[in-house]
Amino acid sequence: MLVVLKESSKEVGQEAARIVAAAVRTNPTIVLGLATGSTPLGMYEELIALHRSAGLDFSQATSFNLDEYLGLAKDNPQSFHYFMHSSFFSQVNFSPEKIHVPDGSIRANYSEYCESYERALKSAGGIDLQILGIGRNGHIGFNEPNSSLASRTRLKELTAETIEDNRRFFPPGAEIPECAITMGIGTILDARRILILATGKSKAAAVAKAIEGPISSSVSASALQLHPDVTFIIDEDAAYALTQRDYYRRVLELTKKYTPEKLT
Ligand code: PGA
Repeated sequence: MLVVLKESSKEVGQEAARIVAAAVRTNPTIVLGLATGSTPLGMYEELIALHRSAGLDFSQATSFNLDEYLGLAKDNPQSFHYFMHSSFFSQVNFSPEKIHVPDGSIRANYSEYCESYERALKSAGGIDLQILGIGRNGHIGFNEPNSSLASRTRLKELTAETIEDNRRFFPPGAEIPECAITMGIGTILDARRILILATGKSKAAAVAKAIEGPISSSVSASALQLHPDVTFIIDEDAAYALTQRDYYRRVLELTKKYTPEKLT
């Protein structure tokens, strides 16, 4: 695991965008796994800026989003479909047929639908680069605590904490979805490379457990310790509870010296 410590949330977004842009330039037909939430917004803004100023080209890329709320139609402003289109897709040049976001408007046959999402992912060749955020409870995607570390895309019941954390995105009094469709932890671990971003003090405990704690289904992000190519990009506030910060800085310096390709 490479742990990249940045001074600010802005720098986290810039570093993530730099890595994604380099990956897209190297492999224009890349399959990206994308995340919603407030954390990756800075990365999307940087990618949009690179598209406009440096011609970063997404026309041949494919994307699969991690998750979607159950019960929200694509045009609902609180849906992840809407978030992705307004914050990213509408401002770059993805081909609409290469964009995949789980459909939260399905009303039945959830398992069949989730299996079809997995099949689409597989037939696209699997995810080359997966972007993740992390919840205060350590979730990745909507894999709430005690999700199987081998789980695949499925319907998942949200915890009260997650429902509260997401209340800020909904108008006052609105009913917040109680379930979501999410890629599983096993699905995420199949990605060839994973970038996980975290900013702010509220994430510090989850980040410390994910990086330095035992692997446990109680902290879904700790499963990333099983993956051979994970980069955490975190700001000072989110790094606050890590005990090995000096070592991570040293590893980064030595990586720049000996294996700089790992940082591109
Ligand atoms: P956030 O959500 O980026 O809005 O904090 C992250 C997550 O819950 O995965």
